[in-house]
Amino acid sequence: MRILLFTGKGGVGKSTTASATSVLSASRGLRTLVLSTDAAHSLADAFGTPVGSEPTEVAENLFVQQVDAQRRFEQSWSDIQGYLLSVLDVAGVDPVAAEELTVIPGAEEVLALLELRLHAISGAWDVIIVDCAPTAETLRLLALPEALGWYMERIFPFERKIVKALKPVLSRAAGVPMPEDSVFDAVERLHAELDEVRTLLSGPDASVRLVLTPESVVLAEARRSFTTLSLFGYRVDGVVANRVFPESEGDAWRAGWVDAQKRVLGEVEESFAGLTLWRSVYRPQEPVGIEAMRERAEEVYAGTDPLEKPTGEGPLSVTRHSSGALLRLSLPFVGRSEVDLARHGDELVVTVGSYRRLLSLPPGLARHTVKGARVEGGALQVRFEERKS
Ligand SMILES: Nc1ncnc2c1ncn2[C@@H]1O[C@H](COP(=O)(O)OP(=O)(O)OP(=O)(O)O)[C@@H](O)[C@H]1O
Ligand SMILES: [Mg+2]
Repeated sequence: MRILLFTGKGGVGKSTTASATSVLSASRGLRTLVLSTDAAHSLADAFGTPVGSEPTEVAENLFVQQVDAQRRFEQSWSDIQGYLLSVLDVAGVDPVAAEELTVIPGAEEVLALLELRLHAISGAWDVIIVDCAPTAETLRLLALPEALGWYMERIFPFERKIVKALKPVLSRAAGVPMPEDSVFDAVERLHAELDEVRTLLSGPDASVRLVLTPESVVLAEARRSFTTLSLFGYRVDGVVANRVFPESEGDAWRAGWVDAQKRVLGEVEESFAGLTLWRSVYRPQEPVGIEAMRERAEEVYAGTDPLEKPTGEGPLSVTRHSSGALLRLSLPFVGRSEVDLARHGDELVVTVGSYRRLLSLPPGLARHTVKGARVEGGALQVRFEERKS
């Protein structure tokens, strides 16, 4: 199974490109699902047909789903939220305010990705295409299970036991309701499921495509996304430059745009050297419907295979040698002074600007000591050496 994610700044053409790719995939006889985690119903707009919150067949082998994030949210979060609400109630917080306090920004979007997990394990699809929300924020939030891994393994089960033992006493003494078993179950389940989603999306069958328009501001954001996605272990394997003005004898206004775009496209090529760069012209009308999507896919991919599995190493790799190992994490566009590195037990804490990843070290490495680190050629390299006892 192949998983493709499309992300990029607002309005650049993510939904259109995701849809076009799905039409091409289905026309090859592959069972294809394209799903959106976005509350705006843009897939329905792109296909020009109503789309439900269950997979809707829009052509042979092609299904479209607009995930009902709100519903997913209620299903997965209700036990935990119920508990938080009861605590806030005791604390005297107004119920409406409490309701708001228990909603984490971006959480709906992340939980919508749980739907992806269900589809992936169902075995029903050859290709799953995800039309992501603008920017890589959502995918970054998926790092949460990894960041909480240590706590979930070591502290959480212990806490659970204590709460169970002390519950009758504590509830009476503190006047604050103690969480039921179901709350602990819910937290544990959510943690495990989100972790699976992240594993799927950072695995060898998945890759991210950055959609952009040839404008400096959009390119700047795409570059930042590339860095963040790599930091969190997602593999970016291609860039789609959309809404490229066709060259022609135009008036000064048009010639100005053609020139400006050409300049930015040059920077795009430089920035993402090594990744596939596809282009799509600015059409005189909005592409809507299966036929328009097919045309667009044929134009963009022009004989290349959009479903090809990425080759080469992913953003994170570990090479072992006789006395230790080298960990390599791609951090495109990042200089030495922008990276902060710390070792914390079995974890490596990598900070780039305002983003931080708690990277769980692969089993064999936990017993090694960090011998040195450097940032070079768009990657962080950390040298580990076996601890001499
Ligand atoms: N190559 C193109 N030529 C002409 N119009 C286009 C092209 N690509 C996309 N559009 C139009 O641009 C608009 C935005 O495209 P789309 O909805 O795919 O963007 P998006 O990145 O998904 O937006 P959002 O961030 O709101 O989800 C749509 O009206 C779409 O039909
Ligand atoms: Mg969209």
